[in-house]
Amino acid sequence: MSRARKIAHQWLAVDEAMGAVEVPIARRVTAGPRGRTAGAKATVPGLAAEEVAAPVRQFIPRPVPVRPAQVPPAVEQPKIAAPSKAASVAPGAEVALPPIPAGSISEEPQLTQAQKSERLAALAMQAETALADYLGDVATRVVFGEGDPGAQLMFIGEGPGLEEDRTGRPFVGRSGQLLDKMIVAMGFTRDRVYIGNICKLRAASWDALANRLKDRPPTAAEAALGLPWLHQQIAIIQPRVIVTLGLPAIRYLVGVTESMGALRGHWHAYRGIAVMPTYHPAYLLRAYSPENRGKVWSDLQAVVRRLKEMNESGLDAAG
Ligand code: URA
Repeated sequence: MSRARKIAHQWLAVDEAMGAVEVPIARRVTAGPRGRTAGAKATVPGLAAEEVAAPVRQFIPRPVPVRPAQVPPAVEQPKIAAPSKAASVAPGAEVALPPIPAGSISEEPQLTQAQKSERLAALAMQAETALADYLGDVATRVVFGEGDPGAQLMFIGEGPGLEEDRTGRPFVGRSGQLLDKMIVAMGFTRDRVYIGNICKLRAASWDALANRLKDRPPTAAEAALGLPWLHQQIAIIQPRVIVTLGLPAIRYLVGVTESMGALRGHWHAYRGIAVMPTYHPAYLLRAYSPENRGKVWSDLQAVVRRLKEMNESGLDAAG
Protein backbone atom coordinates (compact mmCIF):
# COMPACT_ATOMS: atom_id res chain seq x y z
CA MET A 1 0.00 0.00 0.00
CA SER A 2 1.40 3.43 -0.93
CA ARG A 3 2.09 5.94 1.83
CA ALA A 4 -0.71 8.22 0.70
CA ARG A 5 -3.25 5.40 0.71
CA LYS A 6 -2.03 4.39 4.18
CA ILE A 7 -2.61 7.95 5.48
CA ALA A 8 -6.04 8.07 3.87
CA HIS A 9 -6.96 4.77 5.56
CA GLN A 10 -5.67 6.05 8.92
CA TRP A 11 -7.92 9.14 8.66
CA LEU A 12 -10.84 6.87 7.94
CA ALA A 13 -10.05 4.65 10.92
CA VAL A 14 -9.79 7.66 13.26
CA ASP A 15 -13.08 9.08 11.96
CA GLU A 16 -14.83 5.80 12.50
CA ALA A 17 -13.36 5.34 15.97
CA MET A 18 -14.59 8.82 16.92
CA GLY A 19 -18.06 7.90 15.82
CA ALA A 20 -18.08 10.19 12.79
CA VAL A 21 -21.05 9.44 10.63
CA GLU A 22 -19.77 10.92 7.38
CA VAL A 23 -16.49 9.58 6.13
CA PRO A 24 -14.51 11.75 3.75
CA ILE A 25 -13.28 8.88 1.62
CA ALA A 26 -15.05 5.71 0.79
CA ARG A 27 -15.74 4.94 -2.83
CA ARG A 28 -13.32 4.30 -5.64
CA VAL A 29 -13.69 6.38 -8.75
CA THR A 30 -13.03 4.41 -11.89
CA ALA A 31 -12.31 6.51 -14.93
CA GLY A 32 -15.05 5.87 -17.48
CA PRO A 33 -14.11 5.04 -21.05
CA ARG A 34 -15.29 8.37 -22.37
CA GLY A 35 -14.05 10.44 -19.49
CA ARG A 36 -17.34 10.33 -17.59
CA THR A 37 -15.35 10.83 -14.39
CA ALA A 38 -13.09 13.44 -15.89
CA GLY A 39 -14.07 15.86 -13.13
CA ALA A 40 -12.69 13.55 -10.42
CA LYS A 41 -9.21 14.82 -9.61
CA ALA A 42 -6.57 13.06 -7.53
CA THR A 43 -6.62 14.80 -4.16
CA VAL A 44 -4.19 12.45 -2.41
CA PRO A 45 -0.70 13.31 -3.61
CA GLY A 46 0.94 10.50 -5.46
CA LEU A 47 -2.25 8.67 -6.37
CA ALA A 48 -3.66 8.37 -9.85
CA ALA A 49 -7.23 9.63 -10.35
CA GLU A 50 -8.65 6.13 -10.62
CA GLU A 51 -7.14 5.21 -7.23
CA VAL A 52 -8.63 8.14 -5.38
CA ALA A 53 -11.73 7.46 -3.35
CA ALA A 54 -14.47 10.03 -3.93
CA PRO A 55 -16.47 11.53 -1.05
CA VAL A 56 -19.73 9.73 -0.37
CA ARG A 57 -21.53 13.05 -0.19
CA GLN A 58 -19.85 16.26 -1.08
CA PHE A 59 -20.96 19.42 0.60
CA ILE A 60 -21.62 22.05 -2.01
CA PRO A 61 -21.85 25.48 -0.42
CA ARG A 62 -24.59 27.77 -1.59
CA PRO A 63 -23.21 30.42 -3.96
CA VAL A 64 -22.75 33.72 -2.17
CA PRO A 65 -24.55 36.39 -4.21
CA VAL A 66 -21.82 38.95 -4.89
CA ARG A 67 -21.21 41.00 -8.01
CA PRO A 68 -18.38 39.53 -10.14
CA ALA A 69 -16.22 42.65 -9.78
CA GLN A 70 -16.16 42.17 -5.99
CA VAL A 71 -14.74 38.66 -6.14
CA PRO A 72 -10.97 38.70 -6.12
CA PRO A 73 -9.92 36.13 -8.73
CA ALA A 74 -7.55 34.12 -6.55
CA VAL A 75 -9.70 33.93 -3.41
CA GLU A 76 -11.67 30.74 -2.82
CA GLN A 77 -15.34 31.01 -1.87
CA PRO A 78 -15.67 30.23 1.85
CA LYS A 79 -17.10 26.82 2.65
CA ILE A 80 -19.74 27.82 5.14
CA ALA A 81 -22.77 25.69 5.73
CA ALA A 82 -25.88 27.57 4.78
CA PRO A 83 -27.43 28.14 8.20
CA SER A 84 -30.97 27.05 8.75
CA LYS A 85 -33.32 29.85 9.75
CA ALA A 86 -33.53 28.30 13.19
CA ALA A 87 -29.79 28.48 13.61
CA SER A 88 -29.58 32.07 12.52
CA VAL A 89 -30.59 33.42 15.95
CA ALA A 90 -27.59 35.38 17.30
CA PRO A 91 -25.37 33.22 19.54
CA GLY A 92 -26.18 33.81 23.18
CA ALA A 93 -29.59 35.31 22.37
CA GLU A 94 -32.38 34.18 24.66
CA VAL A 95 -34.63 31.70 22.90
CA ALA A 96 -38.05 31.03 24.36
CA LEU A 97 -38.83 27.33 24.17
CA PRO A 98 -42.46 26.52 23.45
CA PRO A 99 -44.18 25.70 26.74
CA ILE A 100 -45.04 22.12 27.66
CA PRO A 101 -48.79 21.71 27.01
CA ALA A 102 -50.78 22.03 30.24
CA GLY A 103 -52.36 19.10 32.00
CA SER A 104 -51.64 15.45 32.35
CA ILE A 105 -51.42 13.27 29.26
CA SER A 106 -54.37 11.30 30.63
CA GLU A 107 -56.53 14.38 29.92
CA GLU A 108 -55.82 14.04 26.19
CA PRO A 109 -58.48 12.25 24.15
CA GLN A 110 -58.15 8.48 24.31
CA LEU A 111 -57.45 7.26 20.79
CA THR A 112 -57.58 3.87 19.12
CA GLN A 113 -54.50 2.51 17.38
CA ALA A 114 -56.00 3.43 13.99
CA GLN A 115 -56.75 7.00 15.13
CA LYS A 116 -53.21 7.39 16.49
CA SER A 117 -51.79 6.14 13.24
CA GLU A 118 -53.93 8.51 11.15
CA ARG A 119 -53.17 11.51 13.36
CA LEU A 120 -49.43 10.85 13.32
CA ALA A 121 -49.46 10.57 9.54
CA ALA A 122 -51.38 13.85 9.24
CA LEU A 123 -49.01 15.53 11.71
CA ALA A 124 -45.98 14.30 9.76
CA MET A 125 -47.38 15.88 6.60
CA GLN A 126 -48.02 19.15 8.41
CA ALA A 127 -44.47 19.13 9.76
CA GLU A 128 -43.06 18.56 6.29
CA THR A 129 -44.95 21.55 4.94
CA ALA A 130 -44.21 23.80 7.90
CA LEU A 131 -40.49 23.01 7.99
CA ALA A 132 -39.91 22.99 4.22
CA ASP A 133 -38.46 26.51 4.31
CA TYR A 134 -35.69 25.36 6.62
CA LEU A 135 -34.35 22.70 4.30
CA GLY A 136 -31.10 23.34 2.49
CA ASP A 137 -27.59 21.96 2.30
CA VAL A 138 -27.53 20.77 5.91
CA ALA A 139 -31.01 19.39 6.47
CA THR A 140 -32.40 18.03 3.24
CA ARG A 141 -35.57 16.49 4.67
CA VAL A 142 -37.78 16.36 7.74
CA VAL A 143 -37.10 13.35 9.97
CA PHE A 144 -40.39 13.09 11.83
CA GLY A 145 -40.06 9.85 13.83
CA GLU A 146 -41.26 6.29 13.44
CA GLY A 147 -42.56 3.24 15.23
CA ASP A 148 -45.69 1.86 16.83
CA PRO A 149 -48.27 4.69 17.12
CA GLY A 150 -49.63 3.01 20.26
CA ALA A 151 -46.23 2.25 21.82
CA GLN A 152 -45.94 2.05 25.60
CA LEU A 153 -42.28 2.96 25.34
CA MET A 154 -40.91 6.00 23.48
CA PHE A 155 -37.27 6.97 22.89
CA ILE A 156 -36.36 10.59 22.28
CA GLY A 157 -33.01 11.73 20.93
CA GLU A 158 -31.73 15.19 20.12
CA GLY A 159 -32.09 15.24 16.34
CA PRO A 160 -31.22 13.50 13.10
CA GLY A 161 -27.66 13.19 11.84
CA LEU A 162 -26.30 12.56 8.38
CA GLU A 163 -27.64 9.02 7.98
CA GLU A 164 -31.05 9.97 9.32
CA ASP A 165 -31.19 12.93 6.94
CA ARG A 166 -30.29 10.65 4.04
CA THR A 167 -32.96 8.11 4.87
CA GLY A 168 -35.65 10.23 6.56
CA ARG A 169 -35.66 7.79 9.52
CA PRO A 170 -34.55 8.44 13.12
CA PHE A 171 -31.60 6.58 14.65
CA VAL A 172 -30.38 4.57 11.68
CA GLY A 173 -26.66 5.43 11.85
CA ARG A 174 -24.13 3.90 14.24
CA SER A 175 -26.00 5.27 17.26
CA GLY A 176 -29.18 3.77 15.89
CA GLN A 177 -27.62 0.35 15.56
CA LEU A 178 -26.61 0.49 19.21
CA LEU A 179 -30.08 1.75 20.17
CA ASP A 180 -31.62 -1.21 18.33
CA LYS A 181 -29.50 -3.55 20.49
CA MET A 182 -30.56 -1.71 23.64
CA ILE A 183 -34.22 -2.06 22.64
CA VAL A 184 -33.84 -5.79 22.02
CA ALA A 185 -31.99 -6.22 25.33
CA MET A 186 -35.03 -4.64 27.02
CA GLY A 187 -37.27 -7.30 25.49
CA PHE A 188 -38.76 -5.10 22.73
CA THR A 189 -38.23 -4.73 19.01
CA ARG A 190 -37.87 -1.48 17.11
CA ASP A 191 -41.34 -1.76 15.58
CA ARG A 192 -42.96 -2.08 19.03
CA VAL A 193 -41.57 1.21 20.36
CA TYR A 194 -41.72 4.76 18.99
CA ILE A 195 -38.51 6.64 18.21
CA GLY A 196 -38.51 10.41 17.86
CA ASN A 197 -36.31 13.43 18.33
CA ILE A 198 -36.49 16.91 19.81
CA CYS A 199 -35.47 18.32 16.41
CA LYS A 200 -36.87 17.16 13.11
CA LEU A 201 -34.02 18.63 11.06
CA ARG A 202 -30.34 17.72 10.93
CA ALA A 203 -28.07 20.16 12.78
CA ALA A 204 -24.49 20.28 11.51
CA SER A 205 -21.74 22.84 11.05
CA TRP A 206 -18.89 23.06 8.61
CA ASP A 207 -15.66 21.72 10.10
CA ALA A 208 -12.86 23.38 8.17
CA LEU A 209 -10.20 21.02 9.54
CA ALA A 210 -12.11 17.91 8.60
CA ASN A 211 -13.35 19.62 5.42
CA ARG A 212 -16.88 18.42 5.86
CA LEU A 213 -20.13 19.01 7.70
CA LYS A 214 -20.14 17.63 11.22
CA ASP A 215 -23.28 16.78 13.13
CA ARG A 216 -23.66 18.75 16.35
CA PRO A 217 -26.17 19.12 19.18
CA PRO A 218 -29.08 21.39 18.26
CA THR A 219 -29.16 25.00 19.38
CA ALA A 220 -32.03 26.22 21.54
CA ALA A 221 -33.51 27.89 18.45
CA GLU A 222 -33.43 24.60 16.57
CA ALA A 223 -34.96 22.79 19.53
CA ALA A 224 -37.71 25.42 19.72
CA LEU A 225 -38.56 24.67 16.11
CA GLY A 226 -38.91 20.93 16.71
CA LEU A 227 -40.55 20.85 20.13
CA PRO A 228 -44.14 21.73 19.15
CA TRP A 229 -44.14 18.71 16.83
CA LEU A 230 -42.74 16.46 19.53
CA HIS A 231 -45.32 17.68 22.08
CA GLN A 232 -48.06 16.73 19.61
CA GLN A 233 -46.47 13.35 18.84
CA ILE A 234 -46.41 12.50 22.55
CA ALA A 235 -50.02 13.66 23.00
CA ILE A 236 -51.09 11.26 20.26
CA ILE A 237 -48.93 8.25 21.22
CA GLN A 238 -49.44 8.66 25.00
CA PRO A 239 -46.58 6.33 25.94
CA ARG A 240 -46.34 5.00 29.47
CA VAL A 241 -42.60 5.62 29.73
CA ILE A 242 -40.21 7.88 27.81
CA VAL A 243 -36.46 7.28 27.64
CA THR A 244 -34.48 10.39 26.67
CA LEU A 245 -31.09 9.85 25.08
CA GLY A 246 -28.41 12.42 25.92
CA LEU A 247 -28.45 15.78 27.67
CA PRO A 248 -30.18 17.96 25.03
CA ALA A 249 -33.13 15.54 24.89
CA ILE A 250 -33.91 15.63 28.63
CA ARG A 251 -33.11 19.35 28.94
CA TYR A 252 -35.38 20.42 26.11
CA LEU A 253 -38.16 17.97 26.93
CA VAL A 254 -38.47 18.61 30.66
CA GLY A 255 -36.60 21.90 31.14
CA VAL A 256 -33.99 20.69 33.65
CA THR A 257 -30.51 22.18 33.88
CA GLU A 258 -28.45 19.60 35.81
CA SER A 259 -25.65 17.57 34.26
CA MET A 260 -26.26 14.25 32.55
CA GLY A 261 -24.42 12.47 35.36
CA ALA A 262 -26.84 13.92 37.91
CA LEU A 263 -29.97 13.38 35.82
CA ARG A 264 -29.53 9.83 34.56
CA GLY A 265 -30.86 6.97 36.64
CA HIS A 266 -33.54 9.20 38.23
CA TRP A 267 -37.18 9.41 37.24
CA HIS A 268 -38.55 12.65 35.84
CA ALA A 269 -42.04 13.48 34.64
CA TYR A 270 -43.49 14.95 31.47
CA ARG A 271 -47.24 15.61 31.73
CA GLY A 272 -47.55 12.67 34.12
CA ILE A 273 -45.50 10.32 31.93
CA ALA A 274 -42.49 8.70 33.61
CA VAL A 275 -39.25 9.86 31.94
CA MET A 276 -35.89 8.14 32.36
CA PRO A 277 -32.87 10.04 31.02
CA THR A 278 -29.86 8.01 30.00
CA TYR A 279 -26.68 8.53 28.01
CA HIS A 280 -26.93 8.92 24.24
CA PRO A 281 -25.76 5.84 22.31
CA ALA A 282 -23.24 8.09 20.49
CA TYR A 283 -21.65 8.87 23.86
CA LEU A 284 -21.53 5.17 24.67
CA LEU A 285 -19.82 4.52 21.33
CA ARG A 286 -17.21 7.14 22.18
CA ALA A 287 -16.75 5.99 25.79
CA TYR A 288 -17.59 2.31 25.63
CA SER A 289 -16.40 1.40 29.13
CA PRO A 290 -17.95 -1.33 31.29
CA GLU A 291 -18.89 1.41 33.77
CA ASN A 292 -20.85 3.46 31.20
CA ARG A 293 -22.47 0.39 29.69
CA GLY A 294 -23.48 -0.67 33.20
CA LYS A 295 -25.07 2.74 33.92
CA VAL A 296 -27.12 2.67 30.73
CA TRP A 297 -28.16 -0.92 31.32
CA SER A 298 -29.25 -0.11 34.87
CA ASP A 299 -31.35 2.84 33.55
CA LEU A 300 -32.98 0.62 30.95
CA GLN A 301 -33.69 -2.13 33.47
CA ALA A 302 -35.42 0.44 35.70
CA VAL A 303 -37.61 1.28 32.69
CA VAL A 304 -38.48 -2.38 32.07
CA ARG A 305 -39.40 -2.82 35.76
CA ARG A 306 -41.51 0.33 35.72
CA LEU A 307 -43.43 -0.77 32.64
CA LYS A 308 -44.00 -4.19 34.14
CA GLU A 309 -45.34 -2.66 37.37
CA MET A 310 -47.63 -0.30 35.44
CA ASN A 311 -48.98 -3.08 33.27
CA GLU A 312 -49.59 -5.28 36.31
CA SER A 313 -51.33 -2.58 38.32
CA GLY A 314 -52.93 -0.57 35.50
CA LEU A 315 -51.16 2.58 36.76
CA ASP A 316 -50.12 5.34 34.39
CA ALA A 317 -48.92 8.17 36.57
CA ALA A 318 -45.26 9.10 36.98
CA GLY A 319 -43.93 9.36 40.46
N1 URA B 1 -28.89 10.99 17.23
C1 URA B 1 -30.09 11.46 17.64
O1 URA B 1 -30.18 12.08 18.69
N2 URA B 1 -31.15 11.20 16.89
C2 URA B 1 -31.11 10.49 15.75
O2 URA B 1 -32.13 10.29 15.11
C3 URA B 1 -29.84 10.02 15.34
C4 URA B 1 -28.75 10.27 16.10
